[in-house]
Amino acid sequence: MILDLIADQRAGQRLKNTLPGEKGLPLVGHSLDFLYRPVETALRFESKHGPVFWLSIFGMTAVVMVGPDANKRVLLDREKAFSNARGWDFFIGQFFKRGIMLLDFDEHRFHRGIMQAAFKKQALMQYVGRMNPVIQGSLNTWCDGRSRKNFAVLPHFKQMTLNIATEVFMGERLGPEADAINQAFVDCVLAGTALIRYPVPGGRWHKGLKARNKLEQFFSSRVVERRRNPGSDLFSQLCLAQDENGRRFSDADVVNHMIFLMMAAHDTSTLTLCAMFYYLAKHPHWQQTLREESLALNKPAADYADLDRLTGIEKVMKEALRLMPPVHGIPRRTVKPVQFNDVTIPEDTFVIVSPFVTHHMEKYWPNAQQFDPERFGNTVDKAQQHPYQYVPFGGGAHKCIGLHFAELQIKTIMHQVLLNYRWQVPRHYHMPINFTTLPNPADGLPVKLIRLQN
Ligand code: HEM
Repeated sequence: MILDLIADQRAGQRLKNTLPGEKGLPLVGHSLDFLYRPVETALRFESKHGPVFWLSIFGMTAVVMVGPDANKRVLLDREKAFSNARGWDFFIGQFFKRGIMLLDFDEHRFHRGIMQAAFKKQALMQYVGRMNPVIQGSLNTWCDGRSRKNFAVLPHFKQMTLNIATEVFMGERLGPEADAINQAFVDCVLAGTALIRYPVPGGRWHKGLKARNKLEQFFSSRVVERRRNPGSDLFSQLCLAQDENGRRFSDADVVNHMIFLMMAAHDTSTLTLCAMFYYLAKHPHWQQTLREESLALNKPAADYADLDRLTGIEKVMKEALRLMPPVHGIPRRTVKPVQFNDVTIPEDTFVIVSPFVTHHMEKYWPNAQQFDPERFGNTVDKAQQHPYQYVPFGGGAHKCIGLHFAELQIKTIMHQVLLNYRWQVPRHYHMPINFTTLPNPADGLPVKLIRLQN
């Protein structure tokens, strides 16, 4: 990290000579603008400086690249010029080290090839069957009586998706340690955007390091037994997987992949479900339309084969992912100079592209702030669209490996929720978003939950 900071100082000087940009406030630069008003800030700079500019954020000089062309260049990365490892390392390297998203080029391809087997159709079909009882169990705990005021949606979905991930990926249910493990994932993610990036006791960074230790102990203690006694879950597959030369993942690699996957699998889906819940509360006619679609299935729990018929949930999910993509910024670091439009970005430069900003650009999304699931209806003219204007799952070699899993999981959950509950928010409620980690409802999203009579 120190080396990256030194490299950054040097690259910063070079950048300031070649690209437009702004230093911002002393010490914090534009960190606060970027954390609290990412869209307004990026679009203001874009209109002033064009689609590529530098800013001082998180104590370093970063180049922000705005818009679908920039997304394509960075994410597709045909020239192997953008390192994932050295981009994400700054935020989560200490806490999710050697997770697949933090590997580069040939090594990444090798690990991804092994992991891919766990996301094939056959495996996904099994997962849906295993999810349904977990969802049912969670929903039963949501509301004792007819209704519940101030029901905090965020922690309940977080608990549910973590339970699903442990069932499907680890092949076991967590006992009393569930809360501590959940908190450990939260602390690791929160540490990623800490402004003070040293282990000061009580600080975010310190908590993140302690949480990482806890997760390592938790998964390491299970590897030996899993190698000896494998099941059909992802954890077992990673333990057994080998390449054509008979090489296997080390115990440490298995643990690193599991920690990353468990985080990736439950955090992003939770935030998507929260966004859907919010928009469906603000637009009750959409909530009712989706409920009727689920009622028409005439099944309390959807099977894999039913999910294609839940087209309303799919449209709402896509629109929620547009308005509130859980991975709002995607970082990289250049490993060679990059020519883009008429500018050169030097080697060793920290670069960010932003799904969040792209999804709010009026040029590509008319009435961008408006919730309109019909944008993803049957009449969408794909030819009019830039392939990189909608990037909630990224793109290129690192495109989300769990995207189909996420879609299946979200549909399976929403189907059961819609059949069991109705929910409301006060008319003038606006969900406050906390951008200091993955964008999440700052107030936990309190709703009035009403149990439906079945
Ligand atoms: C709505 C839910 C999800 C969203 C929005 C999402 C978003 C993303 C994005 C944007 C990336 C690319 C990051 C980059 O290019 O640096 C990514 C990568 C990844 N995601 Fe997801 N994700 C979701 C759900 C999941 C789930 C459910 C899983 C696992 C089951 C998962 C596993 C991964 C993994 C392993 C990677 C790294 C892939 C690689 O580097 O090759 N994600 N995700």
